[in-house]
Amino acid sequence: MTSSKKFIYGLGICFGLPWLIMIIIPALKAQKLMPLPYDKDRDGVEGIYPGAGIYRQGQLVYAREGCSQCHTQMIRPSFAGMMDATKKGWSSDQSEIPSEPARSSNMRDYLGEPIAFLGVQRTGPDLANAGYRLKDKAAMHVHLYAPRAVSEWSIMPGFRHLYVTQVIQGNGSPDALDLPKEYAPKKGFEIVPSLEANELVNYISSLKKDAPLPGQVVAEAKK
Ligand code: HEC
Repeated sequence: MTSSKKFIYGLGICFGLPWLIMIIIPALKAQKLMPLPYDKDRDGVEGIYPGAGIYRQGQLVYAREGCSQCHTQMIRPSFAGMMDATKKGWSSDQSEIPSEPARSSNMRDYLGEPIAFLGVQRTGPDLANAGYRLKDKAAMHVHLYAPRAVSEWSIMPGFRHLYVTQVIQGNGSPDALDLPKEYAPKKGFEIVPSLEANELVNYISSLKKDAPLPGQVVAEAKK
């Protein structure tokens, strides 16, 4: 074998082997993942994990608008992100000081989702458990329409194309956004969410990725 052939084979092995072990084999394993049933005696809960899924129509709007360029949906086991995972309201544990931080994300948390929006960087907060802390849909619409109406220094862009400005008829729409003066429309007009804006907000509210893992509930409780 000439040395150039050896070099090419060597390169192939150096790149191919890690690619096989770190990407191909885990990907094939992940594709076989199935939901798990809870065992009532062991877990103290009934049903299937993961439970109710996400609001899929809204996920398509999330994809199209590029929200995942700035938002992750993944809680890492350690490092950054744990700061948020320990905060009040950032998990199913809604007590003043949660006894445990929200658990880190698990591959099964994304089962049934066409795309798992892990995200690329955390310019904005992690949204994995956003459904627990964002409950006021009207306020979420105001934020999406004009982020700075809610957080003064927000660098999130407003998604105004998802909202419709219309002439007020009669008493006006019950869905009209309650905007501060500087963002309010001209007199006689109101701003209402489009169908897509409603879907997006329903999607964000459905994000609750911290259901207990089957087999770990009791183990956690014993700690
Ligand atoms: C350029 C980056 C950027 C993009 C793109 C972006 N966001 Fe944000 N987002 C942020 C930042 C920064 C914050 C924190 C400041 C604030 O609340 O406005 C935030 C906050 C939020 C919050 C409040 C989170 C909380 O924990 O209170 C929600 C909900 C949200 N964004 C949803 C979205 C959705 C939905 C989209 C896509 C339609 C989107 N964001 C696109 C940067 C971004």
